[in-house]
Amino acid sequence: MRPRCVLVSMRTVIEPFRIKSVEPIRWTTRSQRETLLEAADYNVFLLRAEDVLIDLLTDSGTGAMSTHQWAALVEGDESYAGSRSFDHFRDSIRDIFGYKHVIPTHQGRAAERILFSVMCKKGDIVPNNTHFDTTRANVEFCGANAVDLVIPAGKQPGVQHQFKGNMDVEALDTLLTRAGKRVPLVMLTVTNNSGGGQPVSMENVRQVSAICRRHRVPLYFDACRFAENAYFIKLREAGYQAKSAKEIAQEMFAFGDGCTMSAKKDGMANIGGFLCTNDDALARQEKDLLILTEGYPTYGGLAGRDLEAVAVGLQEALEEDYLRYRITSTAYLGNHIAERGVPIVQPPGGHAIYIDARAFLPHIPPEQFPGVALAAELYLEGGIRSAEIGTLMFGGAATMDLVRLAIPRRVYTQSHIDYVVEAILQVWANRRQIRGLQLTYEAPFLRHFTAKLAPVEAKVACSPASTT
Ligand code: F0G
Repeated sequence: MRPRCVLVSMRTVIEPFRIKSVEPIRWTTRSQRETLLEAADYNVFLLRAEDVLIDLLTDSGTGAMSTHQWAALVEGDESYAGSRSFDHFRDSIRDIFGYKHVIPTHQGRAAERILFSVMCKKGDIVPNNTHFDTTRANVEFCGANAVDLVIPAGKQPGVQHQFKGNMDVEALDTLLTRAGKRVPLVMLTVTNNSGGGQPVSMENVRQVSAICRRHRVPLYFDACRFAENAYFIKLREAGYQAKSAKEIAQEMFAFGDGCTMSAKKDGMANIGGFLCTNDDALARQEKDLLILTEGYPTYGGLAGRDLEAVAVGLQEALEEDYLRYRITSTAYLGNHIAERGVPIVQPPGGHAIYIDARAFLPHIPPEQFPGVALAAELYLEGGIRSAEIGTLMFGGAATMDLVRLAIPRRVYTQSHIDYVVEAILQVWANRRQIRGLQLTYEAPFLRHFTAKLAPVEAKVACSPASTT
């Protein structure tokens, strides 16, 4: 056991690391950014990363590794079969997740594709609190229907709720009673990314698990941000204050039958993922598919060194001085913009702050992509890259238009965040001048990655800038 952090009585929460290697970031002028954004067809995915000052596009694979991870990397065993690094990877995962079979994949969506290909067929239904975009796409690619059953509060950005990621257990029970035969598995996404990075409570996990067992349907976790979810439980749920984040994670996973995981999030790695199950027959089929497209079951498309980085990273993600800093710094960004009137999904999430673009830009209708327009303006104002989660991503199915500011792990310091706050408040002051966008190109699925857009004709009368 490491000694308890001696600074816990101090009010200031610091970054619990010092910086050993630095990566310069590059300033551009507003007029340069105007040219760059136009060349990127107003889709920030199409910008070059070098032309971005602060990159909050995603927290996926963008974190900084620790000295321990870099050291483990050098120890990577690159044997094709039976590598020592796989043993480290599997043992670290079993220690936290407790599942029998551990199948490495190159990232989360590969685990999803394999899981759904094996378990789902045409006409099936897969309930989730909220499917992430790749999860939904992989379910639908199998001909099954992805159904989101988050509690009503989870769809109302301004409503305060401690566990807004919770599944609506009554809706789940009703669905399983009516159509249980068509439901091959239930998923719970912790934390609920598309719904604002909001946690799921242990009580909800317990109830969902009991319903699944009653209907004999397996429960799988989409575990990407399991450590952040565990820490929220420790902070907010009665009876968990004295438990470690790791004990909480272990308890949570024991309610399920398996999981998919992107180790690019709480695996603290730049690449990697895995699929777990307790079911021997399923594991056999999953490994067969893995060999077909990902690789042999002891590396699954990863280098031995990647397996080592994930093995160490998963344990680091559960360190409480890290989690305390992580959750505090995300809330710092959210609270500083919210207290000046910027509408955000409340309360602040674990890995990201989500601005409610429909409330921020009420003069831009959803079909003119208020989230994309706001993301474009944040880039023009401060060279900040964010991501739309709304009408461009989900089409007409979108119930909200959000702009996500996802914070890479252990990368930016408080002054970077202060800069982001300043830029957002500047955009907030000038929000009435922001115009909507229209599509000029879209791909048949997952269109947000490659869509091209252009400003709509100036129909809205521009009123003078105002500050609130
Ligand atoms: N599930 C959730 C909840 C996710 O957030 C992601 C990825 C995935 C699955 C897929 O994992 O990228 O390793 O294939 N989310 C990233 C994001 C891309 O920006 O939120 P992947």
